[in-house]
Amino acid sequence: MVALSKLALVSAVALLGWAYQATRPPPPAILGPPGGPVITSPRIRLKDGRHLAYREEGVRRENARFRIIFIHGFSSTKENGFPVSQEHVEELGIYMLFFDRAGYGDSDANPKRSLKSDATDVEELADALQLGDKFYVVGCSMGGYPAWSCLNYIPHRLAGVALAAPAVNYWWTLPANVSRTAYGKLHVRDRRTFWIAHHAPSLLHAWLAQKWFRVSPIVRGERDAFTAKDWEILTELWRKKRESGQIDPAKATQQGTYESLCRDATILFGTWEFDPTEIKNPFPDGEGVVSIWQGYQDKIVQVEIQRYVAQKLPWVRYHEHPEAGHALPDMDGIGDKIIRELLLGDAKLGANRSCRVYHTPNVPPVCTSACARSSGTV
Ligand SMILES: *[C@@H]1O[C@H](CO)[C@@H](O)[C@H](O)[C@H]1NC(C)=O
Ligand SMILES: *[C@@H]1O[C@H](CO)[C@@H](O)[C@H](O)[C@H]1NC(C)=O
Repeated sequence: MVALSKLALVSAVALLGWAYQATRPPPPAILGPPGGPVITSPRIRLKDGRHLAYREEGVRRENARFRIIFIHGFSSTKENGFPVSQEHVEELGIYMLFFDRAGYGDSDANPKRSLKSDATDVEELADALQLGDKFYVVGCSMGGYPAWSCLNYIPHRLAGVALAAPAVNYWWTLPANVSRTAYGKLHVRDRRTFWIAHHAPSLLHAWLAQKWFRVSPIVRGERDAFTAKDWEILTELWRKKRESGQIDPAKATQQGTYESLCRDATILFGTWEFDPTEIKNPFPDGEGVVSIWQGYQDKIVQVEIQRYVAQKLPWVRYHEHPEAGHALPDMDGIGDKIIRELLLGDAKLGANRSCRVYHTPNVPPVCTSACARSSGTV
């Protein structure tokens, strides 16, 4: 008996020790000398002393007609850019600003990172680079949640927002059938990982680091997370980027996965302090566009939740592509369409402001207003 209880005690202590270790975040790698990852980009200093790294593209800021800030996705950096053609950039006079989100690439980690700080980072970046009172924001994939944050926290600074395959949270306030259907479509390994991100965020880092169970295909960017078409588009894209030598895939998480990937997942899947479906229309007089672009076949971002959110926000223009998956913006010319609509509104597309388009396979487009016919293809 004595031996047994000793064993139990030792096991309990060992388990506690493991849990304590597991829940303690590893210290972030401090960028720059001495000994930290080398900083290779220009950076601005934020009010709290952190730095954000950025990259400018397109026409010169002073001569630009439109200024856009792009928010990158999961495990990505500012180097990944956005698929808008040079023709469009020149024709429309677009200045493009890419930046590394806090904890990614050359931007300092933010131990206090939150939905709100991700929006104020964008605002401070815009001010440091003198983009003026208003600017455009494009959020891709995981960069979609900071774009929602911008709509919620800094709507007065926005000229327009495009969300391209924006990430969704299965714990938003959703009708049970919507969350059940969407969650049920996920791979069981994704479900497990997202569940931990929501219910036990302090264990997520240990979960992603452990080797006994295979973790989420979505988090790992594995083949299972993509449609065949996505995979074709993305492998080609990655090949080109590798050959050009411009992108170092290790750069995104050079400060460790805790400050980059884990924070992303725990903020996205955490309990939000605002409900995206209750955000007020930032452009009540129709002076700007807010759009969501979603592929019907996307395996990473489930269409059911996107549709529900779009339906609740009549001022959002919802575009659903029947054949697209998560690589939607990289499909032929769609990146250009996203940008054109964002900047020119309906002027050039010939669509109606109140237009909302729903495309589903084998079903003719459904639109809540009479403007469907003039709304373009996607
Ligand atoms: C959920 O239920 C509502 C109301 O019955 C229905 O209109 C909607 O299509 C359902 N959504 C899903 C994803 O099942
Ligand atoms: C835009 O849609 C509204 C509502 O359906 C309609 O009344 C209006 O005539 C449309 N305008 C144009 C220019 O198509």
